[in-house]
Amino acid sequence: MSFPDYRPRRLRKNENFRRMIRETGLSVDDLVCPLFVIHGSEVKNPISSMPGNFQMSIDNLVEEVKKIRDAGIPAIMLFGIPETKDEEGSGAWDENGIIQQAVKEIKDEVADILVITDVCLCEYTSHGHCGVLNGSEVDNDATLELLSRTALSHVLAGADMVAPSAMMDGQVCAIREMLNDEGYEDIPIMAYSAKYASCFYGPFREAAQGAPQVGDRRAYQMDPPNSREAIREIALDVEEGADIIMVKPALPYLDIIRRASDKFDLPVAAYNVSGEFSMIKAADKLGWLDGKKAMMESLLSIKRAGADIIITYFAQEAAELLK
Ligand code: PBG
Repeated sequence: MSFPDYRPRRLRKNENFRRMIRETGLSVDDLVCPLFVIHGSEVKNPISSMPGNFQMSIDNLVEEVKKIRDAGIPAIMLFGIPETKDEEGSGAWDENGIIQQAVKEIKDEVADILVITDVCLCEYTSHGHCGVLNGSEVDNDATLELLSRTALSHVLAGADMVAPSAMMDGQVCAIREMLNDEGYEDIPIMAYSAKYASCFYGPFREAAQGAPQVGDRRAYQMDPPNSREAIREIALDVEEGADIIMVKPALPYLDIIRRASDKFDLPVAAYNVSGEFSMIKAADKLGWLDGKKAMMESLLSIKRAGADIIITYFAQEAAELLK
């Protein structure tokens, strides 16, 4: 059927037609809200490049998590800013570390929300890389042990799911083995499988204070021109025991999200990263576009590309509009 018999505009005529034939729906169920936790009490430091986001001490964090739960969002994802850093990033697996304390407190105080933890060393190492250094290179295999210890410490504190983001080869396998050995075979892993070396993490590095002091992350995070390689990375994580696979960032990598969801039967998460958030906030502030509409269209596009789960700093604002 073609024009003039077929006229696509017929079904766009009014909102009820549009509602009826809408192919993709965004729901509050899809959202995960990232949060930053820091030592101290009554701390709520605004993150200048991410309006509406804060480094919060645990007391404020707990109140925020209650609000997020009440908004119907099923999960939060935690990032910690430790008091001190060292070469190895030992704060990452300290049983009294910032994440471990925060997880315990949230689990004691807030019912009915999933607590996911980011498993990486970059916020905890003095050099800001995601693993231990051997000369100027990140030592892959030496880092695996530290990541597994970190993941275990999060689970011991009560985390519902761990999300390794260091882009070390074998990290999912190492963490799965550690959790299984310790009797936590029921804790799922959300793997940052296809994580690109992206400039869109810029604002996050201010928020989490984890920028590399020397060099960059291109020797372990993925090279942006590559798409087939993302499939190989994801396939490895699936074999190593990932329960959820992730593509990160989201908007500049919608093609990768699509390929991942076509190819794999596991739930696909997409991380709508800090830079994607800040761009919209900045344009909105300048009056260059409607921030709320840009937010909803972006989140919807990520969903349409094939993501089941969207990790986004817009979670609370979007939840408000999705009510
Ligand atoms: C830790 C980590 C980063 C992000 C999530 N986990 C930073 C990085 O890899 O440099 C970025 C998240 C964002 O930009 O919102 N490795």
